[in-house]
Amino acid sequence: MGKAYHIVDHAFDVIVLGAGGAGLRATLGLASTGLKTACISKVFPTRSHTVAAQGGIAAALSNIMEDDWHWHMYDTVAGSVWLGDQDAIAYLCHEAIPSVIELEHMGVPFSRTEDGRIYQRKFGGHTTHCADGEMAARACAAADRTGHAVLHTLYQQSLKHKAQFFIEYFAIDLLMDEEGSCCGLMAFSLEDGTLHRFRAKQTVLATGGCGRIYESCTSAHTCTGDGGGMVLRAGVPMQDMEFVQFHPTGLQGSGCLITEGARGEGGYLTNGDGDRFMPNYAPHEKDLASRDIVSHAEGVEMREGRGCGDDGDHILLHLEELGDDVLDSKLPGIVETVRIFRNIDCRKDPIPVVPTAHYCMGGIPTNLHGEVIDPHRGDKNAIVPGLMAIGEAACVSVHGANRLGTNSLLDIIVFGRAAALRCADIIDPNSDVPASPKACEETILDRFDGLRHNDTGENPGQVRMAMQKVMQDDFAVFRKEDTMQEGIDKLTGLADRIDNIGVSNPDLSWNMELMTALEVQNLYAQADVVAHSALSRTESRGAHIRDDYEERDDDNWLKHTVAWRSGAGDIEIGDRPVRLDTLRDDADTFPPTVRKS
Ligand code: FUM
Repeated sequence: MGKAYHIVDHAFDVIVLGAGGAGLRATLGLASTGLKTACISKVFPTRSHTVAAQGGIAAALSNIMEDDWHWHMYDTVAGSVWLGDQDAIAYLCHEAIPSVIELEHMGVPFSRTEDGRIYQRKFGGHTTHCADGEMAARACAAADRTGHAVLHTLYQQSLKHKAQFFIEYFAIDLLMDEEGSCCGLMAFSLEDGTLHRFRAKQTVLATGGCGRIYESCTSAHTCTGDGGGMVLRAGVPMQDMEFVQFHPTGLQGSGCLITEGARGEGGYLTNGDGDRFMPNYAPHEKDLASRDIVSHAEGVEMREGRGCGDDGDHILLHLEELGDDVLDSKLPGIVETVRIFRNIDCRKDPIPVVPTAHYCMGGIPTNLHGEVIDPHRGDKNAIVPGLMAIGEAACVSVHGANRLGTNSLLDIIVFGRAAALRCADIIDPNSDVPASPKACEETILDRFDGLRHNDTGENPGQVRMAMQKVMQDDFAVFRKEDTMQEGIDKLTGLADRIDNIGVSNPDLSWNMELMTALEVQNLYAQADVVAHSALSRTESRGAHIRDDYEERDDDNWLKHTVAWRSGAGDIEIGDRPVRLDTLRDDADTFPPTVRKS
């Protein structure tokens, strides 16, 4: 053992952790204001998980049919089952239009209409006339590779603005001083193992979601929610973590995403009897109902014996009738994915799909400027100095209990930009960069060094599998008290194994086992928070569906869950009010009411 590490010191106005869409949009915004900015990423930026986003980015451009950003706002509020904060949702939907036009001008190669405008397709839960009209064509798409197109463009723009990158650096923990302010973070270079202290006036977490707490998910293996793990260790809470979105069309087996855009182009679902079942659950929106509704419907069909195949364990998605033209121009990636992973030609045969963990609606609580909130520090909106969070890592909250498809690419662009604007407002480039808190540095190095030299501990991959199985079995589409309590007991039983994770080799150069160990500890803390938050919410709302509390309960539960996790693993659950007013003159609020589908 020994902590005699040489640490390379860096000082910036702002550091952004994560180079997905949110991180890059913030980075390029910051770099263009002249603030000294670094973007730190554990993967090469264009390999970030945003690359996997398929169907589109929402904006009421009206390129195909009439649309209005207020309708987009209504859909997002209703889709969130009124748990989204309406000031943030109004901002999101209003800013969507200029943000997408800005992306177009930056060079995103959107698909085009015949008259040259950005192509838009239909998507689940997006309607016209506040769900009284037909489904809206609001998803601005680059075929079925929209995230890929956006991510590459943002990286090129960041380079154009001369942003500084630290690529393949893994962040270990936040540098928090004794007053609870964030002063930066400690990271190590995956290539050569050198340790780096990044001091900054603001630290922006853009680390994505923790989808890999589940066994089957559409998320990349890198989606370990490292920012969430770090804030929990720093005593900062996470919000609404019980709300995990299950995408209705994950490819059975691998979990690969089959875009909802496939249904937006005219695809549909059938059960084992060959029936189109969605009209029974959502008579108006049918196969394009919100994801929580479609995933739950699929679950009910399978549970009641109407699943497909010998084991009744999947649903079929039909694209056979779309024709070569649509498949080749609008869904080429889907055709390829289905062929590669299942050897199915979706021009001729249906695709086996299951609800698959896809997105964390919860995350690190922030205001709409990206500033992190911790109600332990004052009132329910108290800010953690020096710390911001954006994208899936954050809970602004615009998605509430259920996110609409295509609102995630929008979220990362709008709030990535908002965080950059906030930094430009509040940071004095001539002020001193904070010193590093030595006590915190010691704690970080102790944990890092302890893991690195624990050669008798358990392999991190084994413990991760055990955790993923618990989450998949007990915290998926159907939830109830006894199984969730069993799940929590099993997670608690894993705590010692998590603490005793080992690494067979202490080398610091490309030590993937060491990185995995750190990731698994981040995942576990968040799985624990998801589990406790889910057990505490005794109602059904959006993606959180309980067999023992089937109704939505606005009287008692129209509020955000806030959860802190102590170093000893104790969870404290609190709450924050949902903001039902928009705080602006150009948008009315949408009071809670019955959800139409
Ligand atoms: O289905 C999809 O293309 C996913 C989009 C999203 O999650 O926003």
